[in-house]
Amino acid sequence: MKRSIFAAFLTTVSRKQAFHALCLLLQPWKWNAKQPILDLQIAFSTYLLGDDALVKENRTVPFYNARSALKHGLSYLGISDWDKVVVQAYTCVSVINAILAAWWVPCYVDIDESTLNMNVEDLEKKLQSEKISVVVVQHTLGMVADMKLIASLCQQYDCSILEDCAHSLGAAYQWKKAWLRWDVSIFSFGRDKIISSVNWWMLLINQKNETHNEWLDALTLRSVSHLVMIRNLLYAIVWYISYVLYDLARIWKIFYRMAGKMKLFPTIVSLEEKQCIYTDLSFSLPSPLASLALQQIQYIDLHNAARKVHTQQLYSCLWDNIVYRDSTDFFDVYLRCVLLLSEKKRPLVEKMLKDNNIFPGDWYQRVIAPHWVLLQDVGYTPWECPVAERIASMTINLPNHYKMTEKDVFMIVSLLKE
Ligand SMILES: Cc1ncc(COP(=O)(O)O)c(C=O)c1O
Repeated sequence: MKRSIFAAFLTTVSRKQAFHALCLLLQPWKWNAKQPILDLQIAFSTYLLGDDALVKENRTVPFYNARSALKHGLSYLGISDWDKVVVQAYTCVSVINAILAAWWVPCYVDIDESTLNMNVEDLEKKLQSEKISVVVVQHTLGMVADMKLIASLCQQYDCSILEDCAHSLGAAYQWKKAWLRWDVSIFSFGRDKIISSVNWWMLLINQKNETHNEWLDALTLRSVSHLVMIRNLLYAIVWYISYVLYDLARIWKIFYRMAGKMKLFPTIVSLEEKQCIYTDLSFSLPSPLASLALQQIQYIDLHNAARKVHTQQLYSCLWDNIVYRDSTDFFDVYLRCVLLLSEKKRPLVEKMLKDNNIFPGDWYQRVIAPHWVLLQDVGYTPWECPVAERIASMTINLPNHYKMTEKDVFMIVSLLKE
């Protein structure tokens, strides 16, 4: 029987993590401990800079989820209601929801098809024609955006930068993992990200403003309920068992799907979020998830290196169809390996891969992902960003994670070449 290979499911799960989650689940008296959260901030600062300076200077704020981190990151920049925030198309609805939640207005910029990041010329046009307060720069699927160019435009047009590093923890520009030059950055340890503790986000304040201390004092974050905590820990455990049993027991697949439907686990993007009905989500990071993340932080570079090697191998065989960049300045980390196919071929190839137990991912097959998001709800006008729409219609994510072997990579290549 062929082993199933996923692009975006069970890619970071480990036995150690599942066991740790089980221990945490059985020790509820530890759920309110503050130390793991502080230790995690120190580990994060040490990973980026080599010491705990970010914590000493009060520049890291951990959150439970993206919506909270993004929204508070934008509020740190001091913008007012109805201010305009530039964001690239070919992104996730979570980003747009955080903008809409606080009555800011998203303005979409098209992408560059060779990097899947914001197109700098299109950004300049937007900045010339409208008064923009903040530019949200995303390093799409781990490909580093040209921050120097973008920052010089933002300086010229007097707007702030929020750097969304959801996909790019460990990526580097000119050998530096943390640039610390743009106003604020956010990082994710969510599911299927670089590494995962089910849910966790960090806001990193690069440039402290005059109201920094007052802002921190006024920040009131709620704790998630014990039920949510249990669902997160259960997810890590069931995740691992799924990985082990997926191909052995058909019944397990059914259980896993039913558990999702019964909301035994926290959903990645809820139905409300897909409909842009945003309930205020100002949640702090729960201690057990900090503890899970602490255990994972040591694997960032290992996972990134494996993703890069596999993407390189796929690129060397499939060339133009794979989005890959050979550069000494930009150290990309390839959270996903993007294969671009014509709209006609894509469903056929997806089916063929699935028939061979290879499950491709769907980031981002819509201009504002995931499927079911209504474009009018996110303020996007059809054909506003034609390149992003075309690329979304051609995108497939190939598996490239650390559990794959070279043999797996070449099996995918030979299937695709056929
Ligand atoms: C660019 C970007 N930012 C933010 C998010 C939200 O991340 P999370 O699922 O960890 O909440 C996503 C989701 O995938 C994303 O693609």
